[in-house]
Amino acid sequence: MADMLLSIGEHDTMPRNYVRPENERPHLDNVIADANIPVVDFGASDKSQIISQIEKACRLYGFFQVVNHGIAAELIKKVLAITLEFFRLPPEEKAKLYSDDPTKKIRLSTSFNVRKETVHNWRDYLRLHCYPLEEFVPDWPSNPSSFKDVFGSYCKQVRQLGFRILGIISLSLGLEEAYLGRVLGEQEQHMAVNYYPKCPEPELTYGLPAHTDPNALTILLQDPYVSGLQVHKDGKWIAVDPKPNAFVINIGDQLQALSNGRYKSVWHRAVVNSNKERMSVASFLCPCNSVLISPPEKLIADGCPAVYRSYTYDEYYQKFWSRNLDQEHCLELFKRDRETCPDSPSL
Ligand code: OGA
Ligand code: NI
Repeated sequence: MADMLLSIGEHDTMPRNYVRPENERPHLDNVIADANIPVVDFGASDKSQIISQIEKACRLYGFFQVVNHGIAAELIKKVLAITLEFFRLPPEEKAKLYSDDPTKKIRLSTSFNVRKETVHNWRDYLRLHCYPLEEFVPDWPSNPSSFKDVFGSYCKQVRQLGFRILGIISLSLGLEEAYLGRVLGEQEQHMAVNYYPKCPEPELTYGLPAHTDPNALTILLQDPYVSGLQVHKDGKWIAVDPKPNAFVINIGDQLQALSNGRYKSVWHRAVVNSNKERMSVASFLCPCNSVLISPPEKLIADGCPAVYRSYTYDEYYQKFWSRNLDQEHCLELFKRDRETCPDSPSL
């Protein structure tokens, strides 16, 4: 029901069904403030340096940020402005797009999977499939009036940036540049346009609880003014504070599998706060449904057998959505029984 949307009203008190049990709360005081998530300058002329920075970031953090990525600051500004405008539309306008059916490719929804979960999350989101663009754009929101235009160009540019990053990740694994692009097939692309309203009791709930992304690569545009993304490293949560015009990139489960476990699809979460609403735009590149996810020969040599069995993305995705978001890492369910391979040495 559309009246579950958080963005249609003000919230002075916290509804009980958003409150996490004590042992699942975010404990915001324990979060490390300065994330130190590596920043990669795509404008740098030394490509080998970019490759080695990305290699290290993917292996040690599963996350990095990119600046000078070629997507115009003006377009980013428009995307964020339209996002805010969209979530401020009157309730009757938003009700037209509302659905809690997770199989719908275009929908406005709330929390994560309201039909299944018992505790909700402090988030509304617009889920948009965006490839092939012409197939989906007609059903995208037409209010604000520039939505289709602005998000349409944004999606195309994000896709190109994603392909460029996949090329560098391939090289960083010692593979040819086109490798990952080729094995992921005709990639699907979708987007979660997230809106986290002000929350009266941010210590008791999440915008999004800890999860890994099931896809290949995620390209996140953060609210430039409000922090909320946190990444898990060495047993601690660290905040990834926004950096103007940077994208936050993370490795999804499929790149962890394709890199034979060398690169990590890391736990991350979004927390909320009581002072300011926050937004983010997450773009997901996903393998074509029918492709077989299986590591390249090159990465299963040297006494490092395949960590995961081969599977199709279709099978993986079904499994992912049949679970709760914050259960064990979904990839664990695809592990082969084997002796563990020694970790690659740290740089
Ligand atoms: C996601 C996600 C983080 C954020 O949408 O998968 O992790 O900061 N979002 O909104
Ligand atoms: Ni995520």
